[in-house]
Amino acid sequence: MGLELAYSDDVARATESLYAKVSGVIPRIEWPAYAPVIAEINRLKREKDAVILAHNYMTPEIFHCVGDFVGDSLALAREAARTDAKIIVQAGVHFMAETSKILSPEKTVLIPSMEAGCSLAASITGADVRLLRQKYPGLPVVTYVNTSADVKAESDICCTSGNAVKVVETIAKDFGVDTVIMIPDKYLARNVAAQTGVKVITWEGACEVHERFTAQQIRDYRAAHPGIVVLAHPECPPEVVAEADFAGSTAAMINYVGDHKPQRVVMITECSMSDNVAVEYPQVQFVRPCNLCPHMKRITLNGILHSLQTMTFEVTVPADIAVQAKAPIDRMLAIK
Ligand code: 13P
Ligand code: SF4
Repeated sequence: MGLELAYSDDVARATESLYAKVSGVIPRIEWPAYAPVIAEINRLKREKDAVILAHNYMTPEIFHCVGDFVGDSLALAREAARTDAKIIVQAGVHFMAETSKILSPEKTVLIPSMEAGCSLAASITGADVRLLRQKYPGLPVVTYVNTSADVKAESDICCTSGNAVKVVETIAKDFGVDTVIMIPDKYLARNVAAQTGVKVITWEGACEVHERFTAQQIRDYRAAHPGIVVLAHPECPPEVVAEADFAGSTAAMINYVGDHKPQRVVMITECSMSDNVAVEYPQVQFVRPCNLCPHMKRITLNGILHSLQTMTFEVTVPADIAVQAKAPIDRMLAIK
Protein backbone atom coordinates (compact mmCIF):
# COMPACT_ATOMS: atom_id res chain seq x y z
CA MET A 1 0.00 0.00 0.00
CA GLY A 2 3.03 2.21 0.35
CA LEU A 3 1.51 4.42 3.00
CA GLU A 4 2.27 3.89 6.68
CA LEU A 5 -0.86 4.58 8.69
CA ALA A 6 -0.11 5.62 12.24
CA TYR A 7 -2.22 6.63 15.23
CA SER A 8 -0.83 10.16 15.33
CA ASP A 9 -2.15 13.01 17.48
CA ASP A 10 -3.88 14.39 14.39
CA VAL A 11 -5.62 11.08 13.72
CA ALA A 12 -6.60 10.76 17.38
CA ARG A 13 -8.14 14.25 17.33
CA ALA A 14 -9.88 13.77 13.98
CA THR A 15 -11.47 10.48 15.04
CA GLU A 16 -12.32 11.25 18.68
CA SER A 17 -15.98 12.04 18.00
CA LEU A 18 -16.31 8.76 16.08
CA TYR A 19 -14.80 6.84 18.99
CA ALA A 20 -17.25 8.49 21.37
CA LYS A 21 -20.02 6.93 19.28
CA VAL A 22 -18.71 3.36 19.29
CA SER A 23 -17.02 3.29 22.70
CA GLY A 24 -19.71 0.94 24.05
CA VAL A 25 -18.85 -1.77 21.53
CA ILE A 26 -15.16 -1.18 20.65
CA PRO A 27 -12.64 -1.34 23.55
CA ARG A 28 -10.37 1.74 23.79
CA ILE A 29 -7.29 -0.47 23.43
CA GLU A 30 -8.41 -1.50 19.93
CA TRP A 31 -9.08 2.03 18.67
CA PRO A 32 -5.47 2.88 17.60
CA ALA A 33 -5.69 -0.01 15.12
CA TYR A 34 -8.96 1.24 13.61
CA ALA A 35 -8.61 5.03 13.77
CA PRO A 36 -5.86 5.62 11.12
CA VAL A 37 -7.67 3.35 8.65
CA ILE A 38 -10.97 5.11 9.28
CA ALA A 39 -9.33 8.54 8.83
CA GLU A 40 -7.68 7.47 5.56
CA ILE A 41 -10.90 5.94 4.18
CA ASN A 42 -12.82 9.12 4.97
CA ARG A 43 -10.08 11.22 3.30
CA LEU A 44 -10.06 9.03 0.19
CA LYS A 45 -13.85 9.22 -0.08
CA ARG A 46 -13.64 13.01 -0.31
CA GLU A 47 -10.68 12.93 -2.71
CA LYS A 48 -12.29 10.43 -5.07
CA ASP A 49 -15.94 11.50 -4.72
CA ALA A 50 -16.99 8.12 -3.33
CA VAL A 51 -19.79 7.05 -1.01
CA ILE A 52 -19.92 3.94 1.11
CA LEU A 53 -23.27 2.16 1.22
CA ALA A 54 -23.15 -0.01 4.33
CA HIS A 55 -25.61 -2.75 5.17
CA ASN A 56 -26.95 -3.15 8.71
CA TYR A 57 -24.85 -6.34 9.08
CA MET A 58 -21.53 -4.50 8.78
CA THR A 59 -19.36 -4.42 11.91
CA PRO A 60 -19.67 -1.23 14.03
CA GLU A 61 -16.41 0.42 12.90
CA ILE A 62 -17.66 0.23 9.30
CA PHE A 63 -21.32 0.93 10.04
CA HIS A 64 -20.78 3.92 12.35
CA CYS A 65 -17.40 5.29 11.26
CA VAL A 66 -17.13 5.11 7.45
CA GLY A 67 -20.65 4.30 6.14
CA ASP A 68 -22.22 7.32 4.42
CA PHE A 69 -25.57 5.62 4.05
CA VAL A 70 -26.56 2.69 6.21
CA GLY A 71 -29.66 0.58 6.07
CA ASP A 72 -31.47 -2.50 4.82
CA SER A 73 -31.32 -3.79 1.24
CA LEU A 74 -34.22 -1.55 0.20
CA ALA A 75 -32.75 1.66 1.63
CA LEU A 76 -29.34 0.94 0.04
CA ALA A 77 -30.94 0.29 -3.36
CA ARG A 78 -32.86 3.58 -3.13
CA GLU A 79 -29.65 5.40 -2.23
CA ALA A 80 -27.72 3.78 -5.08
CA ALA A 81 -30.34 5.12 -7.51
CA ARG A 82 -30.14 8.61 -5.98
CA THR A 83 -26.50 9.34 -5.16
CA ASP A 84 -24.51 11.94 -7.12
CA ALA A 85 -21.14 10.46 -6.13
CA LYS A 86 -18.90 9.10 -8.89
CA ILE A 87 -17.99 5.94 -7.00
CA ILE A 88 -20.10 3.62 -4.86
CA VAL A 89 -18.27 1.30 -2.47
CA GLN A 90 -20.68 -1.44 -1.46
CA ALA A 91 -20.07 -2.51 2.12
CA GLY A 92 -22.34 -5.50 1.74
CA VAL A 93 -22.56 -8.58 -0.46
CA HIS A 94 -22.23 -9.05 -4.21
CA PHE A 95 -25.92 -8.98 -5.13
CA MET A 96 -26.20 -5.57 -3.45
CA ALA A 97 -23.29 -4.24 -5.53
CA GLU A 98 -24.89 -5.61 -8.70
CA THR A 99 -28.16 -3.89 -7.78
CA SER A 100 -26.28 -0.61 -7.32
CA LYS A 101 -24.58 -1.01 -10.71
CA ILE A 102 -27.89 -1.81 -12.43
CA LEU A 103 -29.50 1.28 -10.90
CA SER A 104 -26.50 3.56 -11.53
CA PRO A 105 -24.74 2.14 -14.61
CA GLU A 106 -22.70 5.32 -15.18
CA LYS A 107 -21.03 5.02 -11.76
CA THR A 108 -18.08 2.91 -10.74
CA VAL A 109 -19.28 0.31 -8.23
CA LEU A 110 -16.65 -1.34 -6.06
CA ILE A 111 -16.91 -4.22 -3.62
CA PRO A 112 -14.00 -4.92 -1.23
CA SER A 113 -14.29 -8.71 -1.69
CA MET A 114 -15.61 -10.63 -4.67
CA GLU A 115 -16.06 -13.59 -2.32
CA ALA A 116 -18.90 -11.87 -0.47
CA GLY A 117 -21.71 -14.02 -1.86
CA CYS A 118 -25.02 -15.20 -0.43
CA SER A 119 -26.56 -18.68 -0.06
CA LEU A 120 -29.83 -17.40 -1.49
CA ALA A 121 -28.23 -15.84 -4.56
CA ALA A 122 -26.25 -19.04 -5.13
CA SER A 123 -29.37 -21.23 -5.03
CA ILE A 124 -30.94 -20.24 -8.37
CA THR A 125 -30.06 -19.27 -11.95
CA GLY A 126 -31.84 -17.45 -14.76
CA ALA A 127 -32.36 -20.83 -16.50
CA ASP A 128 -34.20 -22.10 -13.39
CA VAL A 129 -36.58 -19.14 -13.60
CA ARG A 130 -37.31 -19.83 -17.28
CA LEU A 131 -38.21 -23.43 -16.36
CA LEU A 132 -40.50 -22.22 -13.56
CA ARG A 133 -42.29 -19.93 -16.02
CA GLN A 134 -42.81 -22.86 -18.40
CA LYS A 135 -44.22 -24.95 -15.57
CA TYR A 136 -46.55 -22.21 -14.24
CA PRO A 137 -47.49 -20.04 -17.23
CA GLY A 138 -49.25 -16.76 -16.49
CA LEU A 139 -48.07 -16.43 -12.88
CA PRO A 140 -45.94 -13.41 -11.98
CA VAL A 141 -42.40 -14.01 -10.75
CA VAL A 142 -41.52 -12.08 -7.59
CA THR A 143 -37.76 -12.23 -7.01
CA TYR A 144 -36.01 -11.40 -3.76
CA VAL A 145 -33.17 -8.92 -4.32
CA ASN A 146 -30.82 -11.53 -2.86
CA THR A 147 -30.27 -12.94 -6.37
CA SER A 148 -27.89 -12.44 -9.28
CA ALA A 149 -28.64 -10.00 -12.10
CA ASP A 150 -29.51 -12.78 -14.56
CA VAL A 151 -32.23 -14.06 -12.19
CA LYS A 152 -33.63 -10.56 -11.76
CA ALA A 153 -33.60 -10.18 -15.55
CA GLU A 154 -36.10 -13.07 -15.83
CA SER A 155 -38.48 -11.60 -13.23
CA ASP A 156 -41.60 -9.42 -13.19
CA ILE A 157 -40.82 -7.60 -9.98
CA CYS A 158 -38.22 -7.65 -7.21
CA CYS A 159 -38.82 -7.37 -3.49
CA THR A 160 -36.80 -7.02 -0.31
CA SER A 161 -37.76 -8.21 3.15
CA GLY A 162 -38.84 -4.61 3.80
CA ASN A 163 -41.53 -4.49 1.11
CA ALA A 164 -42.29 -8.17 0.28
CA VAL A 165 -45.86 -8.10 1.62
CA LYS A 166 -46.75 -4.97 -0.33
CA VAL A 167 -45.03 -6.19 -3.49
CA VAL A 168 -46.83 -9.56 -3.46
CA GLU A 169 -50.23 -7.97 -2.79
CA THR A 170 -49.67 -5.39 -5.55
CA ILE A 171 -48.45 -7.81 -8.22
CA ALA A 172 -51.18 -10.39 -7.49
CA LYS A 173 -53.74 -7.61 -7.97
CA ASP A 174 -52.05 -6.26 -11.13
CA PHE A 175 -51.99 -9.75 -12.69
CA GLY A 176 -55.46 -10.67 -11.36
CA VAL A 177 -54.16 -13.90 -9.77
CA ASP A 178 -54.31 -15.52 -6.31
CA THR A 179 -50.91 -17.24 -6.67
CA VAL A 180 -47.42 -15.90 -7.37
CA ILE A 181 -44.04 -17.49 -7.95
CA MET A 182 -41.83 -16.14 -5.17
CA ILE A 183 -38.14 -17.04 -5.32
CA PRO A 184 -35.67 -18.10 -4.05
CA ASP A 185 -36.26 -17.97 -0.26
CA LYS A 186 -38.77 -20.65 0.75
CA TYR A 187 -39.12 -19.21 4.25
CA LEU A 188 -39.63 -15.60 3.23
CA ALA A 189 -42.19 -16.83 0.68
CA ARG A 190 -44.11 -18.85 3.28
CA ASN A 191 -43.99 -16.01 5.80
CA VAL A 192 -45.37 -13.59 3.21
CA ALA A 193 -48.06 -16.07 2.15
CA ALA A 194 -49.16 -16.36 5.78
CA GLN A 195 -49.41 -12.56 6.05
CA THR A 196 -51.14 -11.83 2.75
CA GLY A 197 -53.37 -14.78 1.91
CA VAL A 198 -51.72 -14.83 -1.56
CA LYS A 199 -50.57 -18.37 -2.39
CA VAL A 200 -46.92 -18.85 -3.29
CA ILE A 201 -44.97 -21.28 -5.39
CA THR A 202 -41.45 -21.04 -4.17
CA TRP A 203 -37.92 -22.41 -4.49
CA GLU A 204 -35.71 -24.47 -2.16
CA GLY A 205 -33.43 -21.57 -1.24
CA ALA A 206 -32.69 -20.42 2.30
CA CYS A 207 -30.43 -17.97 4.08
CA GLU A 208 -27.69 -19.97 5.76
CA VAL A 209 -27.73 -17.53 8.69
CA HIS A 210 -31.45 -17.40 9.46
CA GLU A 211 -32.38 -21.01 8.68
CA ARG A 212 -30.35 -22.14 11.70
CA PHE A 213 -32.61 -20.48 14.28
CA THR A 214 -35.24 -22.72 15.89
CA ALA A 215 -38.55 -22.13 17.67
CA GLN A 216 -37.17 -23.96 20.72
CA GLN A 217 -34.31 -21.42 20.96
CA ILE A 218 -36.86 -18.62 21.20
CA ARG A 219 -38.84 -20.43 23.89
CA ASP A 220 -35.55 -20.88 25.77
CA TYR A 221 -34.74 -17.14 25.58
CA ARG A 222 -38.18 -16.32 26.91
CA ALA A 223 -37.75 -18.76 29.78
CA ALA A 224 -34.27 -17.42 30.61
CA HIS A 225 -35.24 -13.73 30.26
CA PRO A 226 -38.88 -13.19 31.27
CA GLY A 227 -40.46 -10.23 29.46
CA ILE A 228 -37.88 -10.17 26.67
CA VAL A 229 -39.06 -8.82 23.30
CA VAL A 230 -38.19 -11.11 20.39
CA LEU A 231 -37.61 -9.61 16.94
CA ALA A 232 -37.02 -11.94 13.99
CA HIS A 233 -36.04 -11.51 10.36
CA PRO A 234 -38.56 -12.96 7.85
CA GLU A 235 -35.80 -15.15 6.34
CA CYS A 236 -36.25 -17.27 9.49
CA PRO A 237 -38.40 -20.43 9.26
CA PRO A 238 -42.14 -19.73 9.80
CA GLU A 239 -42.21 -21.55 13.16
CA VAL A 240 -39.51 -19.14 14.40
CA VAL A 241 -41.42 -16.10 13.10
CA ALA A 242 -44.56 -17.46 14.82
CA GLU A 243 -42.73 -17.41 18.18
CA ALA A 244 -41.50 -13.81 17.72
CA ASP A 245 -43.22 -10.61 18.86
CA PHE A 246 -42.39 -8.89 15.59
CA ALA A 247 -40.87 -9.89 12.24
CA GLY A 248 -39.42 -7.44 9.76
CA SER A 249 -36.44 -6.40 7.69
CA THR A 250 -33.26 -5.31 9.43
CA ALA A 251 -34.44 -1.68 9.19
CA ALA A 252 -37.88 -2.58 10.53
CA MET A 253 -36.26 -4.29 13.54
CA ILE A 254 -34.17 -1.19 14.24
CA ASN A 255 -37.27 1.00 13.97
CA TYR A 256 -39.11 -1.30 16.36
CA VAL A 257 -36.40 -0.79 19.00
CA GLY A 258 -36.46 2.98 18.41
CA ASP A 259 -40.26 3.20 18.62
CA HIS A 260 -40.86 0.85 21.57
CA LYS A 261 -37.57 1.13 23.52
CA PRO A 262 -38.07 -2.32 25.10
CA GLN A 263 -36.20 -2.95 28.33
CA ARG A 264 -34.68 -6.14 26.96
CA VAL A 265 -34.63 -7.40 23.38
CA VAL A 266 -33.23 -10.23 21.30
CA MET A 267 -32.72 -9.88 17.55
CA ILE A 268 -33.01 -13.19 15.73
CA THR A 269 -30.63 -12.29 12.93
CA GLU A 270 -26.98 -11.64 12.05
CA CYS A 271 -24.58 -10.77 14.90
CA SER A 272 -23.55 -7.22 13.99
CA MET A 273 -27.13 -5.94 14.16
CA SER A 274 -27.28 -5.88 17.96
CA ASP A 275 -23.87 -4.17 18.20
CA ASN A 276 -24.93 -1.47 15.75
CA VAL A 277 -28.31 -0.84 17.34
CA ALA A 278 -26.90 -0.93 20.88
CA VAL A 279 -24.75 2.08 19.95
CA GLU A 280 -27.93 4.11 19.28
CA TYR A 281 -29.95 2.78 22.24
CA PRO A 282 -27.62 2.26 25.22
CA GLN A 283 -30.59 2.08 27.60
CA VAL A 284 -31.92 -1.07 25.89
CA GLN A 285 -30.43 -4.37 27.06
CA PHE A 286 -29.57 -6.69 24.16
CA VAL A 287 -29.43 -10.44 24.64
CA ARG A 288 -27.03 -11.40 21.88
CA PRO A 289 -27.29 -14.90 20.54
CA CYS A 290 -26.86 -14.58 16.81
CA ASN A 291 -25.45 -16.26 13.73
CA LEU A 292 -22.58 -14.76 11.73
CA CYS A 293 -22.93 -14.30 7.98
CA PRO A 294 -19.55 -15.41 6.59
CA HIS A 295 -20.22 -13.46 3.39
CA MET A 296 -20.94 -10.14 5.09
CA LYS A 297 -17.89 -10.66 7.30
CA ARG A 298 -15.61 -10.75 4.25
CA ILE A 299 -16.06 -6.98 4.15
CA THR A 300 -13.52 -5.44 6.51
CA LEU A 301 -12.22 -1.96 7.24
CA ASN A 302 -8.84 -2.79 5.66
CA GLY A 303 -10.63 -4.28 2.67
CA ILE A 304 -12.57 -1.05 2.17
CA LEU A 305 -9.35 0.97 2.34
CA HIS A 306 -7.69 -1.33 -0.21
CA SER A 307 -10.74 -1.06 -2.44
CA LEU A 308 -10.56 2.75 -2.49
CA GLN A 309 -6.78 2.81 -2.91
CA THR A 310 -6.71 0.38 -5.82
CA MET A 311 -10.22 0.89 -7.26
CA THR A 312 -10.97 -2.80 -6.85
CA PHE A 313 -13.01 -4.87 -7.24
CA GLU A 314 -15.15 -3.31 -9.90
CA VAL A 315 -18.61 -4.85 -10.27
CA THR A 316 -19.99 -4.92 -13.79
CA VAL A 317 -23.17 -6.29 -15.32
CA PRO A 318 -23.49 -7.03 -19.08
CA ALA A 319 -25.54 -4.21 -20.67
CA ASP A 320 -28.38 -6.42 -21.97
CA ILE A 321 -28.84 -8.18 -18.60
CA ALA A 322 -28.63 -4.85 -16.77
CA VAL A 323 -31.45 -3.35 -18.85
CA GLN A 324 -33.68 -6.39 -18.29
CA ALA A 325 -32.85 -6.59 -14.58
CA LYS A 326 -33.54 -2.89 -14.02
CA ALA A 327 -37.22 -3.14 -14.98
CA PRO A 328 -38.28 -5.40 -12.05
CA ILE A 329 -36.15 -3.36 -9.63
CA ASP A 330 -37.71 -0.10 -10.84
CA ARG A 331 -41.16 -1.67 -10.55
CA MET A 332 -40.37 -2.52 -6.93
CA LEU A 333 -38.98 0.95 -6.16
CA ALA A 334 -42.13 2.56 -7.58
CA ILE A 335 -44.19 0.87 -4.82
CA LYS A 336 -44.12 3.27 -1.87
P1 13P B 1 -32.58 -6.70 4.78
O1 13P B 1 -31.54 -5.79 5.31
O2 13P B 1 -33.18 -6.14 3.53
O3 13P B 1 -33.59 -7.06 5.81
O4 13P B 1 -31.85 -8.05 4.32
C1 13P B 1 -31.27 -8.92 5.17
C2 13P B 1 -30.25 -9.74 4.50
O5 13P B 1 -30.08 -10.88 4.81
C3 13P B 1 -29.41 -9.13 3.50
O6 13P B 1 -28.50 -10.02 3.09
FE1 SF4 C 1 -27.29 -14.01 2.22
FE2 SF4 C 1 -28.21 -14.63 4.61
FE3 SF4 C 1 -25.77 -13.64 4.41
FE4 SF4 C 1 -27.90 -12.06 3.93
S1 SF4 C 1 -27.36 -12.98 5.87
S2 SF4 C 1 -26.05 -12.23 2.69
S3 SF4 C 1 -29.34 -13.53 3.03
S4 SF4 C 1 -26.46 -15.59 3.56
